[in-house]
Amino acid sequence: MGITTQFSFVVLAFICFFSSLSYSLPLSTNGRWIVDSATGHRVKLVCVNWPSHTQSMLIEGLDRRPLKDLANEVMRLKFNCVRLTYATHMFTRYANRTVEENFDLLDLRASKVGLALHNPFVLNMTIFEAYEAVVDVLGTSGLMVIADNHISQPRWCCSLEDGNGFFGDRYFDSEEWLEGLRLVARRFYNKSAVVAMSLRNELRGASSKSKDWNKYVTQGATTIHNINPNILVIISGLNFDNDLRCQRQYPLQLNNLHNKLVFEVHLYSFSGESQSKFIHNPLNKICSKIINGFVQRAEFVMEGAEAVPLFVSEFGLDQTGVNEADDRFLSCFSAHLVEKDLDWALWGWQGSYYYRQGKVELEEVFGVLNYNWSDVRNPRFSQMFQLLQTMLQDPNSNSSNTYLMYHPQSGQCVQVHDMKQKEIFLNNCSNASHWSYEGDGTPIMLASTNFCLKANGNGLPPSLSRDCFGEQSVWTAISDSKLHLATLTKQGNNGMCLEKESSNSSRILMRSCVCVGSDSNCLQDTQAQWFQLVVTNTL
Ligand SMILES: *[C@@H]1O[C@H](CO)[C@@H](O)[C@H](O)[C@H]1NC(C)=O
Ligand SMILES: *[C@@H]1O[C@H](CO)[C@@H](O)[C@H](O)[C@H]1NC(C)=O
Ligand SMILES: *[C@@H]1O[C@H](CO)[C@@H](O)[C@H](O)[C@H]1NC(C)=O
Ligand SMILES: *[C@@H]1O[C@H](CO)[C@@H](O)[C@H](O)[C@H]1NC(C)=O
Ligand SMILES: *[C@@H]1O[C@H](CO)[C@@H](O)[C@H](O)[C@H]1NC(C)=O
Ligand SMILES: *[C@@H]1O[C@H](CO)[C@@H](O)[C@H](O)[C@H]1NC(C)=O
Ligand SMILES: *[C@@H]1O[C@H](CO)[C@@H](O)[C@H](O)[C@H]1NC(C)=O
Ligand SMILES: *[C@@H]1O[C@H](CO)[C@@H](O)[C@H](O)[C@H]1NC(C)=O
Repeated sequence: MGITTQFSFVVLAFICFFSSLSYSLPLSTNGRWIVDSATGHRVKLVCVNWPSHTQSMLIEGLDRRPLKDLANEVMRLKFNCVRLTYATHMFTRYANRTVEENFDLLDLRASKVGLALHNPFVLNMTIFEAYEAVVDVLGTSGLMVIADNHISQPRWCCSLEDGNGFFGDRYFDSEEWLEGLRLVARRFYNKSAVVAMSLRNELRGASSKSKDWNKYVTQGATTIHNINPNILVIISGLNFDNDLRCQRQYPLQLNNLHNKLVFEVHLYSFSGESQSKFIHNPLNKICSKIINGFVQRAEFVMEGAEAVPLFVSEFGLDQTGVNEADDRFLSCFSAHLVEKDLDWALWGWQGSYYYRQGKVELEEVFGVLNYNWSDVRNPRFSQMFQLLQTMLQDPNSNSSNTYLMYHPQSGQCVQVHDMKQKEIFLNNCSNASHWSYEGDGTPIMLASTNFCLKANGNGLPPSLSRDCFGEQSVWTAISDSKLHLATLTKQGNNGMCLEKESSNSSRILMRSCVCVGSDSNCLQDTQAQWFQLVVTNTL
């Protein structure tokens, strides 16, 4: 009996574990959430961009490793989907050219040898057949695919001068664009792996007008939806997909495409102004400015009665870790991505390109994979992205909300190692401790206990205590970014903040809060003190 009970418990736990990971297709929307149409359960898009839209007109990297192998690695690194880009002319003009012919035209001899070695099946396929074959391999590997119309001409995207920026630009014929959308929608009608089509990447340039945006986007969205009502239709805004306020000015009258409409947005360290803004401004100020701008320009679409999902279809950083501005941007934006539990696609998977901007075998330092496509570029990749990849909020769950304490710079979470020692450390977020918190000036309680977090003075680690209402046990999120968790004294100084001891330590100490005030000359790196309380009802 004992054994049987234990056994059924294990089986049940097993089923619950896997049912939380699996879903059926197609997808739909429910308010701000993307859900499994059949069950209504949330499906979080955790995608990686994998380009296929440059002159080679073939998904990158097939000269380096077998496609199936690469697809398995995407899965192993905990992505569930690929944003697979294409150029309109690949299907409206060059659809029947073979991959081999195209590589010969571009004189990509070394790449062709690599293709013949690792993925010979693509060489005699046409451009369209190869795109479809890639979708099939990604799909059978368990990945969802978003077919992203990236640009008209097969070439690197996107600049203000490339003539591909907005409807009516030199290389952006709206009829040909619609024809491209039709061809893709029809071709993948019966392939459930293609869960979404995006209308057009990064609309931009002088001819961009909100009214025209409304007109053409309405045509594109209804064209896709009429051919394939099962898939999600993803719509970008203006100014390189940084700005969806066109939807405020000229709201689409699409009735949410019967719960298939999703908006997308992009954000990089260099969006808007140059990335040096993350170095030459107080970090808390610039982080809060960037996030407030993001909310006002884009995130409003997922609020209120007309809420629609917002998909962050591009963001990323130099994965070699040498770009300080990018690192700061990622910490700042990661805190927000987990707080709102947004759907996203990282740029990008590719360690290199066959051909880009006149160069052969060009490296992509934003690539998850290294130049050789042999391994991840950043050894800390899984740790950095672990919490972002986790579904944190499930609108269908009846479990109550708790908080995790997330440290975006390390990607780790606060954990109580040992209730006897009553100390906290940073560790793998899958082992994070859960906390309850009622907001500024209240204690942070270890969930389901009477213990709270108490500061013990400068340079000392905080500890778990039953003394929960003194000055040292009530916490406030301070600074413009609200990313510093501080205990404040009545003397009204800047207070003491949680801080990761050093880059090679998992200890957390109390130290004087850094650059949390209004001093515009305070340019220290504050990331060690950044902690975000992240709400979850799934873990
Ligand atoms: C490719 O060939 C098919 C079948 O012959 C034809 O219907 C289609 O129009 C061709 N596409 C292009 C872009 O030439
Ligand atoms: C492509 O080549 C393979 C053999 O490598 C052959 O089986 C197949 O029929 C060819 N496909 C086309 C469309 O020529
Ligand atoms: C989809 O598949 C069904 C059954 O295999 C077939 O009858 C139908 O023609 C296909 N539709 C398209 C648009 O390919
Ligand atoms: C890439 O491959 C080349 C040739 O095999 C090798 O010399 C080089 O060290 C590799 N680079 C990386 C980053 O693995
Ligand atoms: C975190 O822990 C989980 C489960 O124990 C494990 O699968 C994962 O690889 C760990 N992640 C890191 C970055 O160590
Ligand atoms: C949550 O509670 C509602 C109402 O009590 C119930 O209908 C639903 O099945 C519950 N959901 C889960 C996932 O347990
Ligand atoms: C996570 O917790 C489990 C159970 O307490 C333990 O076995 C495992 O070693 C922990 N993993 C990490 C990375 O701390
Ligand atoms: C950790 O880094 C500090 C400098 O940041 C160094 O002094 C210390 O020796 C390092 N400790 C270990 C265990 O590597």
